[in-house]
Amino acid sequence: MIEAKHLTKRYGEKAAVDDLSFTVQPGIVTGFLGPNGSGKSTTIRMIMGLDHPTGGQVTVNGRHYHDLRWPLREVGALLEAKAIHPGRPAWAHLWMLAQVNDIPRRRVDEVIAMVGLESAARQRAGRFSLGMGQRLGIAAALLGDPGVLIFDEPVNGLDPDGIRWVRLLLRRLAAEGRTVFVSSHLMSEMALTADEVIIIGRGRFLAQQSIAEITAQPAARFVRVRSPQLDIVRSALDVRGAATTLEDDGSLSVRGLDEAAIGELAASQGLVLHELAPQTASLEDVFMELTSSELEYSGTTSTKGKRP
Ligand SMILES: Nc1ncnc2c1ncn2[C@@H]1O[C@H](COP(=O)(O)OP(=O)(O)O)[C@@H](O)[C@H]1O
Ligand SMILES: [Mg+2]
Repeated sequence: MIEAKHLTKRYGEKAAVDDLSFTVQPGIVTGFLGPNGSGKSTTIRMIMGLDHPTGGQVTVNGRHYHDLRWPLREVGALLEAKAIHPGRPAWAHLWMLAQVNDIPRRRVDEVIAMVGLESAARQRAGRFSLGMGQRLGIAAALLGDPGVLIFDEPVNGLDPDGIRWVRLLLRRLAAEGRTVFVSSHLMSEMALTADEVIIIGRGRFLAQQSIAEITAQPAARFVRVRSPQLDIVRSALDVRGAATTLEDDGSLSVRGLDEAAIGELAASQGLVLHELAPQTASLEDVFMELTSSELEYSGTTSTKGKRP
């Protein structure tokens, strides 16, 4: 279990992580979602004892990282900036980590096999592709067979096969009863991998919910309307307080009124509808909705599908 209480990290005036409290439970994959620059890596560095909180605290299995007797056996992490000596073969890197943590040599071969690096294990890590580097980082995280695993943007730079492989690995680790905490700035990826997500923006807590709860919330529901009298339909809906968006395909997305209310409104004014279809917004849209006011670099974010 990972527990953050009022966790805060300031760099000068700026709070990279701002009064963040959450609990990450074992047995499920918990996604850690937020736009770039929202404080995910900083939070993870504080969990791993690599950064000191300005305020609050975070514990792994009830202890601060530095108080863990054999850290690598309790919590393994794939960090964003990996500290691997480029001239050292992958195998030697893992063996060095194993020795410091009193982990037997056969475990090194085991994790190399688990991540599919057998044929590359004697190569220098500096020659590794991005994907192989990620696999080596994951092997290091798994080395101590820890009950808590943290992955910071593990699929960055991976091809579709690699992404699928990471997804299945995370799901398997959680099914084994471990605590699995994985960060991403991509809701679509998390929707396929995580059971639950913690969403942050500008270092602040926004939501912690199951993927199922997120899709069920009102913001995730809308009705697609088509009509040969779309302009009139739209103003009638606006008058009733619904939020309407004209989509590229010529349909109208309506929020705030359900299909029955829309149908009755149209009928009462003698308006013709060609389509009246309840929809579930993509998780990406819901995520955008939750974080749109919190975006760090809004210029880098697509506004497609964003509502006024
Ligand atoms: N060592 C540092 N010094 C100053 N600012 C930092 C440092 N590390 C991170 N930041 C700032 O803190 C914010 C959060 O960064 P980060 O945790 O890397 O976000 P994320 O991982 O969500 O993209 C960003 O604005 C970033 O520029
Ligand atoms: Mg990051």
